[in-house]
Amino acid sequence: MQNSILDKFTKEALDAARASNTYRTMRLLESPEAAHIELHTAIEGAPRHQILLASNSYLDLANIGELKQAMAEAVLEWGTGSGGARLTTGNKIPHEALEAEIAKFKGEEAAITFNTGYMANVGTISALCGKNDFIFSDELNHASIIDGIRLSRAKCFVYKHNDMADLERAIADAKKAFLETAREQSAENFRGLIVTDAVFSMDGDLANLPELLQITKKHEVLLMIDEAHATGVLGRTGRGLAEHYGCAHADITLGTLSKAVAAEGGFVAGKQQLIDFLRNKARSFIFTTAMAPAVAASAHNNLKFIEAHPERVQQLQDNVKFFCERLRSEGLNVPTSPSAIIPIVIGDEAKAMHISEALQKEGLLIPAIRYPTVAKGAARLRASLMATHTRKDLEFAAKKIISAINNPVSSLRGT
Ligand SMILES: Cc1ncc(COP(=O)(O)O)c(C=O)c1O
Repeated sequence: MQNSILDKFTKEALDAARASNTYRTMRLLESPEAAHIELHTAIEGAPRHQILLASNSYLDLANIGELKQAMAEAVLEWGTGSGGARLTTGNKIPHEALEAEIAKFKGEEAAITFNTGYMANVGTISALCGKNDFIFSDELNHASIIDGIRLSRAKCFVYKHNDMADLERAIADAKKAFLETAREQSAENFRGLIVTDAVFSMDGDLANLPELLQITKKHEVLLMIDEAHATGVLGRTGRGLAEHYGCAHADITLGTLSKAVAAEGGFVAGKQQLIDFLRNKARSFIFTTAMAPAVAASAHNNLKFIEAHPERVQQLQDNVKFFCERLRSEGLNVPTSPSAIIPIVIGDEAKAMHISEALQKEGLLIPAIRYPTVAKGAARLRASLMATHTRKDLEFAAKKIISAINNPVSSLRGT
């Protein structure tokens, strides 16, 4: 009886996902995250050993001996779990030390950590905005931003991707709607927040921070940027988008510790009062157990490693430049963004899947990203680079990608 009710709840959705080719499965890695991995592959003829061009661990810090040792020592000192929420007993010395380090790294007054970047977005947006507020969101923003907006119940205006004119139009529309529906209000009571990815996760392009700052000033609204894919990647020392452009910071800078920092957790950095506010109001900070102190210690150590090794950031940026130029020299239309995410747009969903599978048979793991993650007909190979990919790895990858794209028939054979 129970089972048939459960079937009703789940079967239709799963059948629909299978029918539309959007049913999700997971690949299994049999080795740690690194530039070279051992993959439990389901594709016949594909070798276990693969070059990984699909990782968010951009600086490849997860396997550095001294960083693993430091995390192991933190487990021995602080135990396996935190045992409480930050506001009860969970707050330990490593949590506060990590937050001080993040603030220093980002050049802000203070910082607060969450257990994931997802929780940072959801908690921050829903704490800052309520149903009388207006949020302006880039159409390609990450799902965690979208979920935060939904939870806030604010009125959301989605603007065209990176289109500053459309953003200004949306702000003007929102102000007009605000004055029409609340005649007793004056324009000064209008509360708006622009929110954007710093690096867009499927396209790898950057938000235009200098222009966004001008718009926020002109229209007296707030700006929040999500530096999940920018921290440790952009700017001479990996500080992120503001360092890349050499401009001021957004009002609210959010990020994750799970990508280039190679640990786990999310953060917000900004003015002390903003951080005090989030500690009091962000529900995904308050109503959850604190991250394990050893995870906080690990994120802290890894962040300090990035600060001490700007050459590692440079190595990543050099790799991105080399790889993109190599692909471009063969006529591939690869964007000129300095981020470590490189979309190679194929278009057709099935073709992208087949090329990705053919590359796996050559020992190269580059996922195909399809609808609904990206628009229909905009399927792509999404390559992401690491600082430790060698020129030999990248040369091999470029050759195989170009050959698979130029000879789709032979790359499809046998798949
Ligand atoms: C732009 C962006 N924001 C937030 C997140 C969530 O971060 P986390 O993985 O730490 O939850 C991700 C990816 O996971 C992301 O790509």
